[in-house]
Amino acid sequence: MDWREKCILITGAASGMGLAFARRFAAAGADLALADIDAARAAATAAALGHQALALTADVAKPTDCAAMVADALARFGRLDLLINSAGVWVEGPAEEMTEAAWDRCLDINLKGTFFACRHAIPALRKTGGAIINIASDAGLMGSAGASIYCASKGGVVQLTRALALELAPDGVRCNAICPCDVETPIWRPMASKVSPALRSSRAASMRCSGVSWRR
Ligand SMILES: NC(=O)c1ccc[n+]([C@@H]2O[C@H](COP(=O)([O-])OP(=O)(O)OC[C@H]3O[C@@H](n4cnc5c(N)ncnc54)[C@H](O)[C@@H]3O)[C@@H](O)[C@H]2O)c1
Repeated sequence: MDWREKCILITGAASGMGLAFARRFAAAGADLALADIDAARAAATAAALGHQALALTADVAKPTDCAAMVADALARFGRLDLLINSAGVWVEGPAEEMTEAAWDRCLDINLKGTFFACRHAIPALRKTGGAIINIASDAGLMGSAGASIYCASKGGVVQLTRALALELAPDGVRCNAICPCDVETPIWRPMASKVSPALRSSRAASMRCSGVSWRR
């Protein structure tokens, strides 16, 4: 990959998959705007990646932060070629025990945050014929017991992606979603503690072989 003189804005860039995307695209020469609610870790990530990385503090649940992170990326790099929406939270528990606050937090970050990051990036992406990658989840396609709110949020991201893909295609802007199964990042650790070593091993094998989660 050669991404020199192209700019990528990554949300949730301070950890997990967002951090992995940042490292990979840095190696490919991209200019990187690394947005995260965790300001210290975003700054540390940008510092580790060098001069082509800009740390941005943003809570994607706030549309004003989404607008500001896009504006700051454009102010520094002058263009935007790719938006990766990786910021997200895991919320779990029996549906009858879930609170409105849990619903609002999960939907605000996972779905509303993804939409408003896209909404504010679209004008710049139209200029470059750029692209959007939304990190949804297998849970948004197939569902998962005990995580109804998270599944609803990620199902929303899948449909949002389809709608934006249709809306933006005439202007040459692509919009795709990735639907990972279990990936061992910090968000996954609460789940990992509940899984036996044998099951973890078989899950890892199934991930390697088929991309289908062990739970399915
Ligand atoms: N790890 C998995 O098994 C898995 C599977 C499917 C989908 N996903 C999705 O992949 C994405 C990345 O997850 P990950 O595994 O790298 O998790 P992670 O916890 O390592 O990273 C998530 C990042 O998002 C940031 N973040 C959280 N709330 C935010 C907010 N309001 N504004 C800005 N940043 C915020 C966190 O600070 C963190 O840096 C998430 O959307 C997650 O739902 C993860």
